Amino acid sequence: MSSSFLQSIEKGCAAVAPSVLSADFTRLADEIQAVEEAGADFHHLDVMDGHFVPNITFGPMVVEAISRVATRPLITHLMISDPAKYAGAFARAGSDVVSFHYEAVEEGHLEIVHAIREAGSAAGLAINPDTPLDSVKQLLGDIDLLLIMTVFPGFGGQKFIVEGLDKIREAAAVRDAEGHAFVIEVDGGIKADNAGAVREAGGECLVAGTAVYRSDDYVSAIRAIRG
Ligand code: DX5
Ligand code: ZN
Repeated sequence: MSSSFLQSIEKGCAAVAPSVLSADFTRLADEIQAVEEAGADFHHLDVMDGHFVPNITFGPMVVEAISRVATRPLITHLMISDPAKYAGAFARAGSDVVSFHYEAVEEGHLEIVHAIREAGSAAGLAINPDTPLDSVKQLLGDIDLLLIMTVFPGFGGQKFIVEGLDKIREAAAVRDAEGHAFVIEVDGGIKADNAGAVREAGGECLVAGTAVYRSDDYVSAIRAIRG
């Protein structure tokens, strides 16, 4: 696992991970640099395959290109149907964390976690808004990051599903009670007006696509989400 990833989270305040999904792809290197200068802690990379979700974004080649210009850790969010086949490639492309969806496979989650680590990344597990935390309880001791979705994956710019706050609280409580170490990342619809509630519920890494990349002022946008 990348130690820089853990150190940034352990500062005690929420970390902000702009999602490049909403960046201007004609100027990707400039955008990456601009959010870093504005205070981004991580980059959130949304990978969609047109099968697990009804949208297609990019593959390991783009992750590798981003890794050459980024100085902050890369958290790759795989929204793909076959993470067992591709997770290693995204790790080797320079992701510090590779997260895959619990719902994508019926079995073999732990094997995917191990494959991600063997390929050199930390391992994250993502859950959709309608997946109860109970479904993943047996895996919580084995992951580095739990990605709680507060929109149904597939597109940026959707409305925050407020019921996600209860799941964040539940995840934080279970982690404390069981002595687990995973970081809680929250993704979807986060903006200045709901980021405080996400942080208070226990969100430690807050993803923001639209709220950062579609704002005129990256510095204030990131500051407002971090609190
Ligand atoms: C949704 C993606 C999110 C999304 C975040 O499928 O996983 O990362 O792009 O974008 P906003 O902040 O616009 O909801
Ligand atoms: Zn995402």
